Amino acid sequence: MAIRAVLRMGDPRLLEPARPVARCDTPELHELIADMRDTMAALNGAGLAAPQIGVGLQLVIFGVDHNPRYPEAEPVPYTVLINPILTPIGEETEDGWEGCLSLPGMRGLVPRYRNLRYRGLDPHGDAIDRAVSGFHSRVVQHECDHLTGILYPMRIRDLRDFGFVEELFPGQDVADD
Ligand code: NI
Repeated sequence: MAIRAVLRMGDPRLLEPARPVARCDTPELHELIADMRDTMAALNGAGLAAPQIGVGLQLVIFGVDHNPRYPEAEPVPYTVLINPILTPIGEETEDGWEGCLSLPGMRGLVPRYRNLRYRGLDPHGDAIDRAVSGFHSRVVQHECDHLTGILYPMRIRDLRDFGFVEELFPGQDVADD
């Protein structure tokens, strides 16, 4: 297990589409997932996608305990999601502030589908199929965007709603992702 370097916006590898994971439950995959989990924990992230550490695979992890640094966020169970398929439920969207470990210290207001079904595989190759809403839905959409080379600033509708967290939310202790 190891903490890996997280690529920052501007690195062209963050713009490349990721390829599907061919086989689950291999030692290499479990090692990669352990590194991602260590990296996310060390940086207090809510999620991390494999391309963010330079691995072009369709693999994301996410999870949020109840955390005072995410005061409005409901807890999201720690999840490893492989080869995800996202299907919005309905058309309703809502705006919310997002950060990303690839843009440390910044925040943007991003519209996301409020209700979402997501499917994929867990590290053992077993199916995941969930219907979620709110912050959980947002986190999954953010992380899976990384698998198609999309970073959240590309989805901000008004770039006035984008900036450094210390300027946007002075005096608040907020997480990087
Ligand atoms: Ni991100």
